[in-house]
Amino acid sequence: MKINIQQVSHQYDVEVLKTLSFTLEGYRSIAIIGASGSGKSTLLRLLSGLEKPSQGIIQIDDLNVRDEQYRKQIGFVFQNHNLFPHLSLERNISLILEKTRGYQKAKAVEIAKDYLTRVRLQDQMYKLPKNVSGGQAQRASIARAFSLDPELVFLDEPTASLDPVLAFEVLQAVKELRGSGKNFIFVTHVLSFVRDFADYVIFMDQGKILEHGPVTILEKPVTDELKNYMSFIR
Ligand SMILES: Nc1ncnc2c1ncn2[C@@H]1O[C@H](COP(=O)(O)OP(=O)(O)OP(=O)(O)O)[C@@H](O)[C@H]1O
Ligand SMILES: [Mg+2]
Repeated sequence: MKINIQQVSHQYDVEVLKTLSFTLEGYRSIAIIGASGSGKSTLLRLLSGLEKPSQGIIQIDDLNVRDEQYRKQIGFVFQNHNLFPHLSLERNISLILEKTRGYQKAKAVEIAKDYLTRVRLQDQMYKLPKNVSGGQAQRASIARAFSLDPELVFLDEPTASLDPVLAFEVLQAVKELRGSGKNFIFVTHVLSFVRDFADYVIFMDQGKILEHGPVTILEKPVTDELKNYMSFIR
């Protein structure tokens, strides 16, 4: 994919991203890493078009990320699953397929069941999110994102709230759904997942991109900040 970030700043009460300009072409799976509060989730939300930058322009594959057309091509998996609490796992997926893709109910339900089966939730489909485990709910939200068949999938620390076994299951589900045509931009602290799944890494520190390059940059970090970060995570 092609990423073009031009002079982007973003502030809440304080400035979170500082005049960021960045272009990248030819990679399919990009990991954003960095310490807590460094601006990873903010950058991810801006890249996904969910939030508008205070200043600047972001394009992906020559589309402005705030365009309607772009929205239809992306999926987003949040740090904490954001399933509708009053709907079963199956309905969480099929309803969105009906509303956003215009499928008839029967077709939408069939697709929902297929994706839930692919993340091994065939026995849990009719439960409400509060009645399944954190890992199962997270796998359902991954199934939901992939069921829309997006060209680009954003994942913000999909395993952050999970124990190591559940985290492994969730990452396994992502790998199995990966398919061939999709692109990914994701935030994680799990280095093994970065090495396995990413072909490019962006390291953020205090609202700036401090280092970036192919995954091999992890083997010889240049800045003290990345060295330090690497010494704290696996
Ligand atoms: N909605 C908001 N309102 C005000 N400040 C915010 C908001 N979202 C994020 N921030 C601030 O922006 C900075 C960057 O936050 P961000 O969530 O992007 O960090 P992060 O790198 O994703 O951290 P973490 O690893 O803890 O998820 C932080 O200082 C945070 O407090
Ligand atoms: Mg975050």
